[in-house]
Amino acid sequence: MKHYLDAAENAARAAGKLLRENFQRQQRVKAVAAHDIKLEIDVQAQELISKLLLEEFPAHALYGEEGIVGDQSSDHQWIVDPLDGTVNYFYGIPHFCVSIALRLHKEIVVGVIYDPIRGEMWTGQRGEVSKLNGAPIHVSDRAELAEAVISIGLAKTGETINTNFPLLQQMIHRVRKCRVLGSAALDMAYVACGRFDAYIETGISLWDIAAGSLLVENAGGTVDLRPRENMKDKYSIVASNGLIDLKL
Ligand code: IPD
Ligand code: CA
Repeated sequence: MKHYLDAAENAARAAGKLLRENFQRQQRVKAVAAHDIKLEIDVQAQELISKLLLEEFPAHALYGEEGIVGDQSSDHQWIVDPLDGTVNYFYGIPHFCVSIALRLHKEIVVGVIYDPIRGEMWTGQRGEVSKLNGAPIHVSDRAELAEAVISIGLAKTGETINTNFPLLQQMIHRVRKCRVLGSAALDMAYVACGRFDAYIETGISLWDIAAGSLLVENAGGTVDLRPRENMKDKYSIVASNGLIDLKL
């Protein structure tokens, strides 16, 4: 597994370098929606990751936010978000990351999340404790909901906003603080290392949370991931330290 983890880390660092070097520069916009933006650099970062991973593992498949490449019949599937937090990136907000996971026979076995601005690299592999910059991490030990800091993603379509917003309104009165920071993968990484006590979102994609799920679970937390009814390839997720009762 270490071989795969090293490859994922190497690809995440390469994509992170590209993102960091181009941060706060003029970006070429690919598509704009009411609550979302797609940039050329999302595609460039995924192409770089695909090249590095598929050159090393030519028989593998890759499923990313910017498309699917490789041999889709492979048991080894890389799940990639080349730039999670694209809107933050476009607006010059230094809170975004690269997320890469490897799924083998439907189980996530490797996960890395890299924040190229803060130089933070979360790594995880099956059966081993998650790490941040090489040091073991653990979820928080807060058990009181009233003391919790939790992140709620608002997602990007009218429909997902309409389900996430009532959740935010409800939770904000129960916890110490709610946060909406704009990168689901970093939300998961922050739960894994105890900065957040929980992260909740409905209408999320697999590439946003695949690496983070392994990191949270291998840091002692819990992840409840359910397919969203009537929304193809979208999920609802509750990731937490496993101690607080979110009363959902
Ligand atoms: C989005 C971010 C955001 C979350 C959305 C995601 P993107 O990913 O993770 O925090 O609320 O659901 O789609 O578009 O920046 O890669
Ligand atoms: Ca994303």
